[in-house]
Amino acid sequence: MNDDRKYLVYHGLLLPKETHNEDSLMYAAELQIRDDDIFVLTYPKSGTTWMQEILPLLLNGGDLTPVETIPNWDRVPWLEETRAALVLKNQTLPRAMVSHLPYNLMPRTFFTSKAKVIYITRNPKDVVVSSFYFHKMASFLDDPGTFDEFLDKFLSGQVLFGKWTDHVKSWRNTDLGDRILYINYEDLVKDLTGALCKISQFLGRKHTPEILQKVAMHCSFSNMKNNSMSNYSLVPQDIMDRSKSSFMRKGIVGDWKNHFSPEQEEKFTTILKEEMKGTSFKLD
Ligand code: A3P
Repeated sequence: MNDDRKYLVYHGLLLPKETHNEDSLMYAAELQIRDDDIFVLTYPKSGTTWMQEILPLLLNGGDLTPVETIPNWDRVPWLEETRAALVLKNQTLPRAMVSHLPYNLMPRTFFTSKAKVIYITRNPKDVVVSSFYFHKMASFLDDPGTFDEFLDKFLSGQVLFGKWTDHVKSWRNTDLGDRILYINYEDLVKDLTGALCKISQFLGRKHTPEILQKVAMHCSFSNMKNNSMSNYSLVPQDIMDRSKSSFMRKGIVGDWKNHFSPEQEEKFTTILKEEMKGTSFKLD
């Protein structure tokens, strides 16, 4: 059972009350979307914070000022969270936002707009590990229990924003055409400059290789881990307990191998494969 003092339920999805309420969800649903809006969509723990670093830099030609002076949640706000109404009022254009919403819950006017979406996918086995540690450190979320218990919760969708498979499928089956770009977290890790080049082209920007290099250097895991505007160290310890886990934890591909037993891996893969049947999505 989830602690209903901590979560509200929105269209069947669990959302933390710490950062969401009915007004913020109504605000998101009714927000007037502009054609030049840019959204990063993720299932939680797939690289949202990374994109909150990357996007402002690509949009302003590599100027480090915003990423060094504005916390990530105010620099690229969450569409559905309580701060959005406040932050979006003063955001420079084009507006950049992140969101964990499934496709069908996007703002009403999003569907007829020309707003662009970058959808980040991460290996769900690494997502569940990252989420496990996040639940340990965030007092506004339920204690995850053992890793085995948390795996079951994840598989049944009793976690933030519901089932991973539902989220990914909702964003694979859209009518967005060339308004959406799919990027894997693993590709960001493997070749950040290459991924930045793709994102830059998608946004219609013409960045020089030097600027892309500069952005990539700034957005390295170690740099972001030391950036107080991005590593959540500004959040009070009683809300995010850094003695239990840091937010910028490992930033690697394949940490699941240090956590899954062979039986857990088999069960996880079998269930996800079944749920992703009929899609072209590859699970390894
Ligand atoms: P880990 O817990 O595996 O380290 P989100 O921002 O969606 O909540 O995702 C958080 C995950 O992204 C964490 O994963 C975090 O370390 C990782 N991350 C954030 N910035 C990163 C970067 N620059 N390079 C690699 N991973 C990064």
